[in-house]
Amino acid sequence: MSIRLRFILIIGVISLIAACLFAYLSYQFTVNNAMEEARAKGNIVFTFIESSRKFFRDEQRPLVMDIVEKERFYPTLMSGFAFTRGVWDEFAKELPEYRFKQATIDPLYAPNKADADELAIIAEFEANKELKTKEGILEKDGERFFYFARPVKVGKKCLRCHGNPDDAPRDQVEIYGTENGYNWKQGATVASFITYVPIHTALEQAKHSALTLFLFGLGGIALLVVVIWVFFNGYLVRPITMLENRTTEISLGKNLEEKVEHGASDEIGALARAIDRMRISTKKLLERCKK
Ligand code: HEC
Repeated sequence: MSIRLRFILIIGVISLIAACLFAYLSYQFTVNNAMEEARAKGNIVFTFIESSRKFFRDEQRPLVMDIVEKERFYPTLMSGFAFTRGVWDEFAKELPEYRFKQATIDPLYAPNKADADELAIIAEFEANKELKTKEGILEKDGERFFYFARPVKVGKKCLRCHGNPDDAPRDQVEIYGTENGYNWKQGATVASFITYVPIHTALEQAKHSALTLFLFGLGGIALLVVVIWVFFNGYLVRPITMLENRTTEISLGKNLEEKVEHGASDEIGALARAIDRMRISTKKLLERCKK
């Protein structure tokens, strides 16, 4: 294998590994950034929901409870879950790409029913009571989301409406029936608040920028190979071939009059000068032999 080819192979392979590594690192970096951004957005959305709910629970509901007759129950005025659902429906009209769900194993309001992924999240909260939040990536309807979840546990007070349907407010039973959303057990994790932030576009962009970087890397490698080829040809291969021919000639005693010349002041130039000295010595030696 020629020096030129060997050199190009080594440089080519190293550059290719470097290009792959850079592309991979860029992908990881962009994905991590996208996840961080999704986490921050999810946190803002969730904090807003929690805050509005807290204000409702601490400030508005007690007043409403005082005003409304004891027997009556109006979900939108008295249930934090109904209130949050209403707030979210308005929010989603403006920013439909975000999603939020009060995912529940057995809900009063049917659309709150947890799907398979959400059931798994709730089950994990139930299995590990210490777990306060959970986050990750989920695919929904072919789209990828970053999700952020918190558990909902049943307290004693909840059982008035989610325990035995006979004890539940009459209005509630009228609206939601007695089939679902009852007989919950105190202390059980029955639901999870889950915020979904879309990351599909960000992931696609990460893939795209990594691929662009890789293609630029390939272009750079191709350019490097051409430069090395031209450089080796001009500075190494041609002078060495010339010196090889001249040395062969000298070894055969031919063309001893012509000076071996190479103008460069580098190693090749030094080699040419050495070969030229050899030409002069050989010439003198041969002349002496002839005498
Ligand atoms: C006064 C009755 C009442 C009490 C007390 C009550 N809830 Fe509810 N809850 C409801 C109603 C009504 C809904 C349906 C809201 C809607 O239409 O979105 C609901 C909805 C929910 C949901 C959403 C899933 C579903 O069933 O639609 C969860 C989870 C939930 N409640 C948990 C709790 C927990 C936990 C407590 C105790 C801290 C509690 N609830 C206390 C009446 C009540």
